[in-house]
Amino acid sequence: MTGTSPTMRPSDVVRRSAEFLRHHDVESPRETAEALLIYFLGTDRAGLYALDEGLDTRTARLFGRALCQRCHGIPVQYLTGEQQFMDLVLGVAPGVFIPRPETEGLVEVALELLRPVTNPVVVDVGTGTGAIALAIAHRRPDARVLATDVSEAAVTVATANASRHDLAVEVRRGDLLEPLEPDLRGRVDLLTSNPPYLTREVYESLPEEVRAEPYEALVGGTDLHHRLASLAPEWLVPGGWLVVEIGDEQGPEVRALFEERLDEVAVVADLAGRDRVVRGRLPLEPPSAG
Ligand SMILES: C[S@@+](CC[C@H](N)C(=O)[O-])C[C@H]1O[C@@H](n2cnc3c(N)ncnc32)[C@H](O)[C@@H]1O
Repeated sequence: MTGTSPTMRPSDVVRRSAEFLRHHDVESPRETAEALLIYFLGTDRAGLYALDEGLDTRTARLFGRALCQRCHGIPVQYLTGEQQFMDLVLGVAPGVFIPRPETEGLVEVALELLRPVTNPVVVDVGTGTGAIALAIAHRRPDARVLATDVSEAAVTVATANASRHDLAVEVRRGDLLEPLEPDLRGRVDLLTSNPPYLTREVYESLPEEVRAEPYEALVGGTDLHHRLASLAPEWLVPGGWLVVEIGDEQGPEVRALFEERLDEVAVVADLAGRDRVVRGRLPLEPPSAG
């Protein structure tokens, strides 16, 4: 397989394993080999390079198997069961979307909008591992945070992540806002969502490891953006915000549909300059008749 020997130091194992992964066209081969070895040795990066003993037989076997699974398109995060998102290490599992660093930008926008609000009510729709909801709850302990997802696997993982970080996020299973109690209508200060927004054509062109994530978590175009923009006026408090992630070509379309119902609409670009987030605010005053 990778040709590691029991006397090889972990740093040499990383080098040899990276060559193996590169040979199998795995992206970021060195980072991948490091991440897997750090996980199986239960250490950190500094610890990995400080070790000069060889791997024990069991670790070598587990590590070798993980390298093979990675070559067969399994994402590293499904092998280690973890992904860092902002300040939190989140559990991830096959069948649940792996949080992406781009989504941290949406959380930053959301936290800024929440700054003037005390004890806000926040709802994260399509929560996956709970990434957005948990990051907001972690930074804003005064918030009541609810999270929904149609996927049972996502609800299980998000609930476990809330316990892992001792955060009181209320995770509910169901379509969009349907699992919320009706008396939250008109009381939500912030609605967030990173909905499935890829098109089917983009999905077909994705690398194998992205297609290892659930199709329903990835593909949807702007369907859920439309549905959320229609639902938002019923659930938001006047002056409340809807903040969504978008694909980099969806800015003009989502901006236009937000502008039909919301004020202060803006498209926010990520650090690479690509449109990534759209936000809009329910007017403070209802539109005057006539
Ligand atoms: C792109 S993932 C985002 C997960 C998480 N918010 C994040 O950013 O890491 C989209 C999520 O929306 C969920 N989803 C899809 N359709 C939904 C719907 N109609 N109602 C609620 N959740 C939905 C999927 O199950 C998936 O977990």
